[in-house]
Amino acid sequence: MTEKPIRLDRFLTEMTGFTRTQAKEAAKKGRVAVDGVVVRKTDGKIVPGIQKVTVDGREITYQAAEYYMLNKPAGTVSATEDGRYPTVVSLIEERKRKDLFPVGRLDLDTEGLLLITNDGDLAHRLLSPKRHVDKIYFVRYSGDLPRDSVRRFGEGLVLEDGTRTMPAEFEPLAGGEALLTLREGKFHQVKRMMEAVGCRVTYLKRLSMGSLKLDESLEPGQYRPLTQQELEELRQI
Ligand code: URA
Repeated sequence: MTEKPIRLDRFLTEMTGFTRTQAKEAAKKGRVAVDGVVVRKTDGKIVPGIQKVTVDGREITYQAAEYYMLNKPAGTVSATEDGRYPTVVSLIEERKRKDLFPVGRLDLDTEGLLLITNDGDLAHRLLSPKRHVDKIYFVRYSGDLPRDSVRRFGEGLVLEDGTRTMPAEFEPLAGGEALLTLREGKFHQVKRMMEAVGCRVTYLKRLSMGSLKLDESLEPGQYRPLTQQELEELRQI
């Protein structure tokens, strides 16, 4: 795939994690070369994937976009930086790009499907409240489920702060477990919906987001790149 020319400082910030100032400084010191020629200014353009960029003699390969499916483990934060807990992005050890982020948020104690990418357009479409992308959760809960809970979820519930949710599909399973399909993503929505029917979530795992389904062979903390087919299906959203 032929890439469009981009500025050298942008290439370096995206692929090495340098800030723009650090990229400029590195070039000034003669550490950056393009096609073997030392380049002391970073405001010129290069063609990623065609021209060879090195820093301290080490080639910086270009990757336009990356897409990973992560089985988020409990105890990780759906963010790019955090002072207290490991972030979901830090789990993606083989990432090339430094600008990856999680598409949406799962709570600290929630497990399951999280898409990690740097594709802002796709993320925007998946998260847009207008598109109502289905998210399916596996829920374990304590408390007695009211008899009419399927109907109440189906009609949309009123949360403790008066917010009304959209209709959701609730499918009780045996032994205090259930599947819940949401078409929106309010803060702590599953937990708050379960509280609205007098129950408490004890375990929560996301199983799918739109066409993307969690690969059940991934243990919590494991990830893999999306397949071409998964990506194409997601893009049809
Ligand atoms: N709903 C929640 O309550 N928590 C999550 O992590 C995701 C959905």
